[in-house]
Amino acid sequence: MKDLLRGFRLKGMDEEAQRFTSSIPYDSEIFEQVKKINVAHMAMLVSKGLVDRDEGLKCIEALRELNGLKPSYELEDVHMAVEAHVISKVGEAGEMLNLAKSRNDQVATAIRMRLKEYVLDAVRELLSLRKTLLRRASEHLGVVMPGYTHMQQAQPVSLPTHLLAYFSSLGRDVKRLMASYEFADECPMGSAALATTGFDIDRGLVARLLGFSKVMEDPIDAVSSRDFLLDAIFGLMQTMLDLSRMAEELIVWSSKEFGFVEMPDELSSTSSIMPQKKNPVVCEIVRAKASNLIGELVATASMLKSLPYSYNLDLQELTPHLWSSFRDAIDSIRMMNKVMDSVKFDAERMRADLDGSTLATSLADMLVERLGMSFRKAHNLVGLISKKAEGREFVEVAKELLPAMLGVELPWLDSLNPESVVESRKVLGGTSRDSTLKLIELGKKEVEKEELWLDERLASLKRADAELESFVSGLRR
Ligand code: ARG
Repeated sequence: MKDLLRGFRLKGMDEEAQRFTSSIPYDSEIFEQVKKINVAHMAMLVSKGLVDRDEGLKCIEALRELNGLKPSYELEDVHMAVEAHVISKVGEAGEMLNLAKSRNDQVATAIRMRLKEYVLDAVRELLSLRKTLLRRASEHLGVVMPGYTHMQQAQPVSLPTHLLAYFSSLGRDVKRLMASYEFADECPMGSAALATTGFDIDRGLVARLLGFSKVMEDPIDAVSSRDFLLDAIFGLMQTMLDLSRMAEELIVWSSKEFGFVEMPDELSSTSSIMPQKKNPVVCEIVRAKASNLIGELVATASMLKSLPYSYNLDLQELTPHLWSSFRDAIDSIRMMNKVMDSVKFDAERMRADLDGSTLATSLADMLVERLGMSFRKAHNLVGLISKKAEGREFVEVAKELLPAMLGVELPWLDSLNPESVVESRKVLGGTSRDSTLKLIELGKKEVEKEELWLDERLASLKRADAELESFVSGLRR
């Protein structure tokens, strides 16, 4: 195809330089969006009397017929390729396609549109994972396990309590992604290269037809800024950090030393030499992909640092990082959902591994409650018992030593066990059955609200598509 821009002024570009500076290899991500923007923009130009109706409609027909692009570096990018296609189909009429717009506002708009779709996909997958976690928590009510701090056994907790921690942190990831959607939901079209245009265009109309909730008024900011893109990458990176921590725990828990979980065969690999091996490879890849996301964030932030305002081609180099961030994160969320859905928890092993000394905090609490001792005194006293207990059953040693040390009978020591301790925490967020059920209920309501948010956004994008259709049909009459 003929170069549209260099005209009589510039010599042809060096082929290697052309390839080096072209965004064609990544532009397939925004092809549909660029097409739609051109349709909406041309429809607006016609409605404002800036382009002849028949000529405008011819352009729109040519855009509609365009199905995919041959990757070709000569035309620099998808924007020029689309324009060249329309001109080749409808001749001179197509030469008005770029009136009052530029690749600068067009690419910023297209990235925002594609990003919004990806955010909705990511949120949908995260909500599905969150629902899986709620289900697995409900299935394991009453399963008692060691809770850890510093990777040392600390206090007895329940498996649902631990799974709900995953659920809770992923909730903030959903909210961050929802926020990144709202930041991206402003339309740069009409900013043109950086300075808007002298033609009497309707920016609000184009924004609405493209499914945006508002116009991004400032034109220099509109073509310059990619902070919305970093917000999304940050949201995805944080999601990956959370997934990587879950993955790490499952890897450790599936070791022989822990034996708390068994990975399903379908999600494990084996060894080419060691016939007995079963490796938690899905979790390992999730853990590693989290590092990719850190890289994407650092790469994109560095490209924006000190970049002069308005458009610079550096911005082009940011965009592929956004797409790979979404692909890595969405794949990882889906895979962790599969893992969480099918991993087998070994309740007996968890219970058997609980060290008696994890009851120490509760014993100190009981001394406060039953004997009116100060907490610090009780803490010190129980510390002494735990030292004496080394290697022996903690509660047995307490029963043997404490009555003599305090000079009173302590019959209630018999009731001290992991189950009673877990059940005794009845506060909001506590480990008792009722508190856990309450958290699960609250969690379900939260997910329902987020699903509503998702449905509303999907519906409003659909409405915009329908409005674009009927606006174009309206021009035909
Ligand atoms: N391909 C560019 C991008 O992806 C948009 C084109 C801007 N080029 C220009 N010469 N102003 O950001």
